Amino acid sequence: MSDVVLQTRGLSMAFGGLKVFNGLEFALQRGERHAVIGPNGAGKSTFVAVVTGLLSPTAGKVFLDGRDVTRTSARDRVKAGIVRTFQINTLFASLTPLESVLIALSQRDGVARPSLRPLKSLKPQIEEADALLHKFGLADDATALTQALPYGKQRLLEVVLAFALRPRVLLLDEPAAGLSTHQGQELFEQLATLTDGTTMLFVEHDMNIVFRYAQRVSVLAGGSVLATGTPEEIRSHDGVKGAYLGH
Ligand SMILES: Nc1ncnc2c1ncn2[C@@H]1O[C@H](COP(=O)(O)OP(=O)(O)OP(=O)(O)O)[C@@H](O)[C@H]1O
Ligand SMILES: [Mg+2]
Repeated sequence: MSDVVLQTRGLSMAFGGLKVFNGLEFALQRGERHAVIGPNGAGKSTFVAVVTGLLSPTAGKVFLDGRDVTRTSARDRVKAGIVRTFQINTLFASLTPLESVLIALSQRDGVARPSLRPLKSLKPQIEEADALLHKFGLADDATALTQALPYGKQRLLEVVLAFALRPRVLLLDEPAAGLSTHQGQELFEQLATLTDGTTMLFVEHDMNIVFRYAQRVSVLAGGSVLATGTPEEIRSHDGVKGAYLGH
């Protein structure tokens, strides 16, 4: 079996007359942490939206483990294992982390919403939620209101909710947005140690984080993938330096 988990072939996206990218060839290897970088407006978030099925491409295909999922709905892609971070929306903000994780696990396991079931029948999910919150250092906050948590913990909870679904591919679009440099590094340190082995694509602007935590990096610029390589290769790539790194 191929070591490529997620692949795009000839992937193109336009909004009306605005061509965002054209003919993207991208491959995510099993188990790697892969950063997608590029200037503002390069199409990174659009790429994530097309891969996760929130947007339909104007041309090209998306494959998961060799299966064409281009026409698969966003919902069914989540079931197939293409998971992106949940934004903590107003519903989750008024729940506790424990409740939110329980909902995610119940959906994953195809059992009814926790509020509709006797608590006893959710024992496996409760134990797993407890273990997950412990693992990510959120045990002490398990029963606090999510909206009352420090912002850094809210962003971490977003990752935990996605990770709880046991994704084949986890996509994180600027998971550290809004955090200080230090908090961002802390979040990525946790990601790197606690989700190691999970195939992950992340979008990130902080190059210190990118070069430290990505095993491979792809540069999206001018509507195509300018280069893909190890952090060292990207750092010393002439075209990338000129087009993006600015030196
Ligand atoms: N729904 C939309 N309708 C029309 N144009 C859009 C839409 N979403 C994005 N765009 C445009 O597509 C281009 C790519 O946007 P995108 O958000 O994917 O860039 P990005 O690389 O994620 O940028 P950033 O680093 O600022 O997050 C931009 O020119 C943007 O204005
Ligand atoms: Mg973006």
